[in-house]
Amino acid sequence: RRADRGAFSGRTSFIFAAIGSAVGLGNIWRFPAVAYENGGGAFILPYLVALLTAGIPLLFLDYAIGHRWRGSAPAAWRRFRRWTEFIGWWQVLIALVIALYYALILAWATNYMIFSLDQRWGDDPNAFFGQYTQALSGTDVHISFDVVPAVLVSMVVVWIATIVVMALGVQKGISASSVVFIPLLVIMFVILVIRALFLPGAIDGLEALFRPHWAALLSPGVWVAAYGQIFFSLSVAFGIMLTYSSYLKKRTDLTGSGLVVGFANSGFEILCGIGVFSALGFMAQAQGVQVSEVVSSGIGLAFIAFPAIISEAPAGALIGVLFFGSLVLAGFTSLISIVEVVIAAIQDKFGLSRISSTLWVCVPLAVVSTALFSTTMGMPLLDVLDKWVNEYGIVAAALVSTIVVTYVVRGLPTLRDHLDHRGTFPIGRWWLVCVGLIAPVVLGVSLVSSTISLVTSPTTYSGYPGWFIVVFGWLMALALLVAGIVLSLLPWPATSNLFKDD
Ligand code: PHE
Ligand code: NA
Repeated sequence: RRADRGAFSGRTSFIFAAIGSAVGLGNIWRFPAVAYENGGGAFILPYLVALLTAGIPLLFLDYAIGHRWRGSAPAAWRRFRRWTEFIGWWQVLIALVIALYYALILAWATNYMIFSLDQRWGDDPNAFFGQYTQALSGTDVHISFDVVPAVLVSMVVVWIATIVVMALGVQKGISASSVVFIPLLVIMFVILVIRALFLPGAIDGLEALFRPHWAALLSPGVWVAAYGQIFFSLSVAFGIMLTYSSYLKKRTDLTGSGLVVGFANSGFEILCGIGVFSALGFMAQAQGVQVSEVVSSGIGLAFIAFPAIISEAPAGALIGVLFFGSLVLAGFTSLISIVEVVIAAIQDKFGLSRISSTLWVCVPLAVVSTALFSTTMGMPLLDVLDKWVNEYGIVAAALVSTIVVTYVVRGLPTLRDHLDHRGTFPIGRWWLVCVGLIAPVVLGVSLVSSTISLVTSPTTYSGYPGWFIVVFGWLMALALLVAGIVLSLLPWPATSNLFKDD
């Protein structure tokens, strides 16, 4: 019997989908500030080293496992070795949690894209945290189901769009939307960059970003930041790239595709740096302050700084639509990649059709996500989940997978041969060193250093109540691993795709 898992029609479809996943909010709102804070122009060196010694090698590892063992994360890891199935479920659960809150960011961006037409946020720089999200903060944080109507409507729209795309399947849904959205994103962002470059003060912003601080290269923290940015930005070790590569034809050049994806993502990241810092340079000049005083990242950059820029800049509405539109497109193609990890796992486990697995996964996911996050606790909940899922989910899962593959199973040579079989170039020994040594060391160091900073900080993270951090941070992260182990102990029904060939 054959499994009906879906497939990419070819390498180009796969590359677009993979770029769609990689290019996300991390490029737009994370990279510029990370580069600025870690050496400016000099950051390019650790960044490239991280890309070549860990990002691309781990991307190849994901590809090799997914493609060689042809399955969703749990199925592929189980076929690799029966007992490594838990890593797959762990990745599925991480993806599940990310999907829950990622939709909220998309909902905000969708609303702000519309708000920027008439600058509906007004003159209050805190409109986002205030009248718009009505977010609980600091010690006021508590369990709340007070719905914020504007966010609710937007979240429902995001989930409906997601369900439609996912139901259309791997080629007609996931790949087709990336084939349309990624070029559109690039066009929109290039126009934004050109507009921003001509704003007064833009050059000061660029100077602040690119001026190299070579001494920074002596600081280990800068190197950890570079690896952290690369791991996050390439979506490695999430199970995403593993799942996507399982939809490729058996004879496919994996390594050539990986290089395209890696460099496309980094190229877009640099473009984002230019656009964001031109805009920040304008903002600094308009407010008569130094660029260093207006640098921000994440939510603050997108929903506080950019609205201010849009309100002050000539043709602000255009900048707003392009900027928030870019966030929506970049975020959407990442969200669908995260959701696919879960859908693929359920489809494989129960041997379901595409439509049934989509509905079984997405309907509960959409309901829970909307119920939890369109409320006044949405923002702090997202804040804590994101922090712990990144530090202890993704980083720990990546660490465990590299150690298990390299030292416990000693599976790297087989996977290398698989990559070399069809690859454009032999990946050679450097890959073994990168995956077996460099990546685990760096991942271990960042795990330890973030634990030290979280545990020794005089206040709890963001000043939230202790129980909130314990429950939604520490216990949540631990629960993902434990639940992953439990799920890996459950039997696979006879109807599952594990017993069908693809
Ligand atoms: N790689 C994406 C980015 O750079 C982020 C992402 C996170 C994608 C989680 C998928 C899953 O923004
Ligand atoms: Na990215």
